[in-house]
Amino acid sequence: MPSLVVVGAQWGDEGKGKVTDLLAERADAVIRFQGGNNAGHTIIRGDEEPWKLHLIPSGILHPGKLCVIGNGVVIDPRVLTEEIDALRARGVDMGGLRVSANAHLIMPYHLLLDSAGEQKLGEQQIGTTRRGIGPCYADKAARLGIRVQDLLDEKILKQKIAAAMEPKRLALRPHAKDPSLDLHAMTEQYLTYGHRLEQHIADTSRLVWDLLDAGRLVIFEGAQGALLDIDHGTYPFVTSSNPVSAAACIGAGIGPKDIDEVWGITKAYATRVGSGPFPTELHDSLGDRLRSAGGEYGTTTGRARRVGWLDLVALRYASRINSLTALVVTKLDVLSGLDRLLVCTRYRGAEGAEFDHFPYHQSVLHHASAEYVELEGWSEDLSECRTAADLPAAARDYLAYIAEMLGVPVALVSVGPGQDQVIWTGQGAAERLAVAT
Ligand code: IMP
Repeated sequence: MPSLVVVGAQWGDEGKGKVTDLLAERADAVIRFQGGNNAGHTIIRGDEEPWKLHLIPSGILHPGKLCVIGNGVVIDPRVLTEEIDALRARGVDMGGLRVSANAHLIMPYHLLLDSAGEQKLGEQQIGTTRRGIGPCYADKAARLGIRVQDLLDEKILKQKIAAAMEPKRLALRPHAKDPSLDLHAMTEQYLTYGHRLEQHIADTSRLVWDLLDAGRLVIFEGAQGALLDIDHGTYPFVTSSNPVSAAACIGAGIGPKDIDEVWGITKAYATRVGSGPFPTELHDSLGDRLRSAGGEYGTTTGRARRVGWLDLVALRYASRINSLTALVVTKLDVLSGLDRLLVCTRYRGAEGAEFDHFPYHQSVLHHASAEYVELEGWSEDLSECRTAADLPAAARDYLAYIAEMLGVPVALVSVGPGQDQVIWTGQGAAERLAVAT
């Protein structure tokens, strides 16, 4: 089983970092393939101070693994160099870090454009993380992007920055005197980043291919989630990349035949950050209770997440567009103490039409209400469960219902933030991986 893609099956924040970290133990390499420092995850290991990562794959915490930031990622070099420094200061060996020479760089003007764009949209704003992600991907598509390899050539770098800044003059006029927009200072600053990163810059597509060719286990780590996908998500309330599994090919530089397994990560309920439709959202005290029990505040921005019941219409859609081979259900423990659990199996449109499939039209989705099936809850604390047999029957039934409705086996269940708080079910692809647990 040489390659496995880990993707978010909801609106991000599903716990991909923990899953990747667990899999990284058994893998030879971990590759990030899209997004940027709009993502973030915290890894809890024993009594250690939590590890917070934004750009570097969590495999870095396992000595000797190759950890790649692929060409599909957009990199803020200030954030990356700070992350390297922070990890080094805690004794982490950065020898395995490789950064694609083709990855695009987030520039100071991208950050300003992101905030200015949101401000302009006012009430219609997307609720971006304001990390410059959208403007950076826009420049990539406009062929005005600055790439990692440009950091290694002063003349080219200066020319490219000048060309990229020129068309933005109008939008950036209020920031004309901002020192971070001085061409000379920016070039100097980015050359410094280049010197810092030079030892890590590589032809990462080739490195990944060599490992796959040698039959080694490679994990491709997605950021965000299917419903934030720029093509398949709830546009325009989406991120500016493709968090679906197919993007692993483009963002890492491999072909579709090189992917063997796709694991979709979903919480046992649903959350969303930022604006946009969310049919199962809870606006009541139950939502507050889940938010607080699940610690639903963003790792990157600290924003409170919107919370709701599990949405199987959306999840079935995510399963289809990702070709999921297995599911990982996280935060099952957070649902303890509820007498009954609602699971959305269908939407009803404003005109009364029923939708078993995710509606393609945004107006339908915006006005759709969720229809639920009621399942039995459980009162037991799940945090010490380590096998499926340890779970109360109602929790097992909840998982079985999800798997049946999606036609995808649940490979792994998470019952707490700790790395050991997991249950390998022995189902599906996990059977092959669990051998090594
Ligand atoms: P951007 O990716 O910063 O442009 O933000 C676009 C949308 O994606 C906003 O609704 C963000 O809240 C959301 N978003 C981006 N990254 C994440 C993430 O890692 N988790 C959850 N939501 C995210």
